[in-house]
Amino acid sequence: MKVGGVPYRAIYTAAGGAEVRVIDQTRLPHRFGTLRLETVADAARAIRDMVVRGAPLIGATAAYGVALAMRADPSDASLPKSLALLASARPTAVNLRWALDSAAELLRPLPPGERSDAAFDFATRLCEEDVSRNRSIGRHGLEVFREIAGRAAAAPGPINIMTHCNAGWLATVDWGTATAPVYLAHDEGMRVHVWVRETRPRFQGAALTAWELGQHGVPHTLVSDSAAGHLLARGKVDIVIVGTDRTTAAGDVANKVGTYPLALAARDNGVPFYVAAPSPSIDWTIEDGAGIPIEERDPEEITRVWGVDEDGVERRVRVTPEGTRAANYAFDLTPARLVTGLVTERGVCAPERTALRRMFGRL
Ligand code: MRU
Repeated sequence: MKVGGVPYRAIYTAAGGAEVRVIDQTRLPHRFGTLRLETVADAARAIRDMVVRGAPLIGATAAYGVALAMRADPSDASLPKSLALLASARPTAVNLRWALDSAAELLRPLPPGERSDAAFDFATRLCEEDVSRNRSIGRHGLEVFREIAGRAAAAPGPINIMTHCNAGWLATVDWGTATAPVYLAHDEGMRVHVWVRETRPRFQGAALTAWELGQHGVPHTLVSDSAAGHLLARGKVDIVIVGTDRTTAAGDVANKVGTYPLALAARDNGVPFYVAAPSPSIDWTIEDGAGIPIEERDPEEITRVWGVDEDGVERRVRVTPEGTRAANYAFDLTPARLVTGLVTERGVCAPERTALRRMFGRL
């Protein structure tokens, strides 16, 4: 997507493929800049410190991390070490394990001399596949929007879409998952308006989703996370669509903390709740969402906020009494029964074991 009119991807290679670069998401929306990842340790650090974040982008960064490791040292000893380093960077998004397992399967049988080129080719392919998968999710999601717009044809105004966190192009290589249908709808002239939840504590909604929708000219309004119930109850939301970090084989969804109460409020108010779920975010090894590891992060992400002051100076300030104890759960689990449908690259699927397996030819 475009930044100031210039096309960007959230991760890309430069200098004829010699450099791996990412957009530094810790500085957005106040500063736009890119960083070069030079080593596997840089890639692991970028994932851990959330320079890059969002499940598909975490997978793509890990793939390039393996490639950087193989360029530095393609030996049999180096491969498992770099895989272990990257695997430990963040626990919840299954895309990380998926990317690493796929890379390992490809690289292990190769002679060391061939591993670097093969790993870079693999990472490039993974990124291209991510982009086309997201476009497909966009097309299927757009059908859902059209149906809703058709139903609301008598009522004037845009369709009102609510989202949580950032499942936008910054969370993927391009297009995003939950935002892909939004961008396609907007581009084809459908009137859409997005309610953007701020997404405490790290404000991925306020900082990232609001920024990317703004860059693309999509009408949107920022609301506090707590305002969602009020808007849903007042009929101001036609559809909720969010992303996923890990969806189980039975359709339970782990996503940014706050997704579960949003799904409950949507259900109570009869508003459809969709999850944009690319296949690498499906964990076929887990049936029950209770088995998904939920990341706990530094409590300072709750007790402090970061932003720029009136003079444009970046500041980090404490909002709690000094010494307040805080617990920072980064994700929660939405049971399949609260999900209206999973928007996958193959189509919209019921959040249910057999339907999912049938859609992906695993029956
Ligand atoms: O902690 P984050 O910012 O990595 O969390 C991101 C999310 O929860 C997204 O909704 C999810 O990764 C899907 S991104 C397409």
